[in-house]
Amino acid sequence: MSDSESYSSARASARQRQLRDQYEAEERAGHYASRRWIETEHARKTNAWEMRTVDDLLKGVGPVGTLLDLPCGHGRFTELLDKHANRLIQGDLAAAMLQRRVGVAGEAIQGSLFELPVQSHVVDLAFCFRVLHHFPEDNLRARVLAELGRVSRRWVLATYYDARSFPVWRDRIRGRLRTLTSCTHGTFAKEASAAGLRIVARRYRLRWFSQQVVVLLEKE
Ligand SMILES: C[S@@+](CC[C@H](N)C(=O)[O-])C[C@H]1O[C@@H](n2cnc3c(N)ncnc32)[C@H](O)[C@@H]1O
Repeated sequence: MSDSESYSSARASARQRQLRDQYEAEERAGHYASRRWIETEHARKTNAWEMRTVDDLLKGVGPVGTLLDLPCGHGRFTELLDKHANRLIQGDLAAAMLQRRVGVAGEAIQGSLFELPVQSHVVDLAFCFRVLHHFPEDNLRARVLAELGRVSRRWVLATYYDARSFPVWRDRIRGRLRTLTSCTHGTFAKEASAAGLRIVARRYRLRWFSQQVVVLLEKE
């Protein structure tokens, strides 16, 4: 490994630890689980849009055998995913989030997206919602996509932040440092393809104005 590669890998590990620590903190975990999605009108609308969009995409997929929801957080999607899958496995890196999981009857595992604690090709759909934009280096997103492609027999449903959106341009013009990472559709499609996945559907919260993109991918 070259000096710059080992430097960037050390930075990536530090960032992963930092992110895990954020969600292990009782205050952050508690806020995410009980207030994040209900405290403002905008949050409620976003949550409703995400639920509708996931429901719609999963209806297109048809009944799913085994579905892996990782990171599940406090289980925001438990009820919805349960409706579409015969078997739901949920997981997260942070124990504080898992402890707050709703619908605790289902299976839960603690583990990282960078090394999913699941054998290859054992799930029918891997669901990875609202986390890729937290990883600052592009190669981390690519690594996670590779892991999702490894464990899934057929489908992956994921989200990313769109670099061609107003909030990203606004911050660039203002010279504001962004803590969340975005990428273009082309970059995401290339990383997905390297992971053996092709994009079959893409949904924008509000094209050009909102960063959030939900994508359904299928094994090539
Ligand atoms: C914004 S929350 C999203 C949770 C859920 N998918 C949702 O949409 O409500 C991000 C989650 O990612 C988890 N997380 C962060 N880094 C992770 C990693 N490397 N592996 C697995 N989970 C991770 C955090 O603990 C947190 O629960």
